[in-house]
Amino acid sequence: MYQIVLSVHVIAIISWMAGILYLLRLLVYHRMETEKVVKDRFELMEYRLYRYITNPAMIVALIFGIWMLVLNSFLLSQPWMHVKLTAAVLLIGVTHYAKAMMKKFKRGEMPKTEKYFRVLNEIPTLLMIIIVIMVIVRPF
Ligand code: HEM
Repeated sequence: MYQIVLSVHVIAIISWMAGILYLLRLLVYHRMETEKVVKDRFELMEYRLYRYITNPAMIVALIFGIWMLVLNSFLLSQPWMHVKLTAAVLLIGVTHYAKAMMKKFKRGEMPKTEKYFRVLNEIPTLLMIIIVIMVIVRPF
């Protein structure tokens, strides 16, 4: 049972990461674009990617992650899990921030700069590296 919950957690994590990394890349190109018809296309792609992949995967990853913490509450006393959960909360924050940026584009705004979105695009990768090292290496 635990292994099945863990498997679903990891599958949802892979979908969440694929979704958020692609979504933030779309925001980079969206910010660079000047043609309305192309910007409308990006808006639709971003909406579908967030609505049907990124957000559902994040919710499933969270539910199955918490489920394992309930099944194995000892993990909550582990410092590596504290670092992991902090990084996971930041990743949830980045995902919601991407949604807020999508809303600004939808209102016809052109928020921030192309460089800003390129830097933002690297943050989920850094958080994922920290999380995977914490949960597999358990350095402390
Ligand atoms: C959203 C909040 C999250 C919670 C509550 C959570 C919780 C957990 C728990 C309790 C385990 C089982 C650990 C064990 O039994 O040894 C686990 C495993 C795992 N988690 Fe998460 N997690 C979350 C997010 C993430 C994220 C964002 C990633 C990666 C980007 C991630 C990657 C993993 C991996 C790779 C494993 C498997 C580790 C192994 O098999 O040894 N988790 N998670």
